[in-house]
Amino acid sequence: MILITGATGLVGGHLIWHLLQENEQVTALKRANSDVESIKMIFQCYGSNPEEYFQKIIWREGDVENFSSLLSAMEGVDYVYHCAAIVDLGKSSQRLMNVNAGGTKNVVQAALQRKVKKLCFVSSIAALPAGNKLDVIDELTPFGENETISLYGESKQMGEKAVNEGIAQGLDAVIVNPGVIIGYSKNRTGSGELFKRVKSGMPFYTNGITGYVNVQDVAEAMILLMKSSVRNDRFILVGENKCHKDILQKIAAGYGKFRPFIGMRKSLIYIAWVLEILGKLFLTCPF
Ligand SMILES: NC(=O)c1ccc[n+]([C@@H]2O[C@H](COP(=O)([O-])OP(=O)(O)OC[C@H]3O[C@@H](n4cnc5c(N)ncnc54)[C@H](OP(=O)(O)O)[C@@H]3O)[C@@H](O)[C@H]2O)c1
Repeated sequence: MILITGATGLVGGHLIWHLLQENEQVTALKRANSDVESIKMIFQCYGSNPEEYFQKIIWREGDVENFSSLLSAMEGVDYVYHCAAIVDLGKSSQRLMNVNAGGTKNVVQAALQRKVKKLCFVSSIAALPAGNKLDVIDELTPFGENETISLYGESKQMGEKAVNEGIAQGLDAVIVNPGVIIGYSKNRTGSGELFKRVKSGMPFYTNGITGYVNVQDVAEAMILLMKSSVRNDRFILVGENKCHKDILQKIAAGYGKFRPFIGMRKSLIYIAWVLEILGKLFLTCPF
């Protein structure tokens, strides 16, 4: 049996759909107030019978911050896909650490106690070094001297550390580091924020390039890795490297909105967002 954490999120929802297509028995972790209906909307993107597939999911209640709830959820489970996290590059809070780092440690320790056969942890490219300007990085690129990392990236790094400690204690695991994941999700957290902002008419873009990947490719890669003999390794999942400007302007075109046209340095983007909010209070952009 398979357990998925973060089942109601972008990655979890699409992953469940792909696993159900392979007739796998899927158990999904949800919190007391999780919006499980959001999964039906993801299923609707794939086919006309979301309800039939939704009914196949076995729900178990739990929270990654609560170790004993994970231990109960993993009873009889052979394979764990750990997708639960707070996805927020801008947030600086202890909760980010508790859920992404502490939560992953709990998942790993519960998996060890329940003698789970293999675990797949979804990390992020945010946990990797940024590289210099046009450098292309890979899984082995070291951090540069004085290179800084976001708190979110640090929390995912600590999650990876917890998985590696689990591996040292006998757990079989794989780690994936997806780029910005693009795909349908009702809740519009994580990368969905990008769409929400552009849809609301954001005039700013940051300079720079990053990796993007389709959520379906992420789900398929995770399943392939879990079914393969590959273990104790990590893989960057990126479909294409794109300029932020190109991506934001494509999204704007898709929504029929004006295209972001003011380039900002990353360090100024938060000021830009404040200006944008203030601007909306006083004027309507004519573009
Ligand atoms: N989205 C991206 O662009 C991106 C890129 C690279 C890596 N990733 C990684 O991919 C994974 C999935 O991201 P996503 O985009 O699918 O996120 P998402 O759509 O924001 O979903 C987050 C999921 O985590 C669950 N969750 C949050 N806190 C929890 C807790 N304390 N206990 C149990 N469940 C909890 C949420 O459940 P509720 O419904 O209860 O809130 C939800 O199911 C994450 O590990 C993220 O770091 C994402």
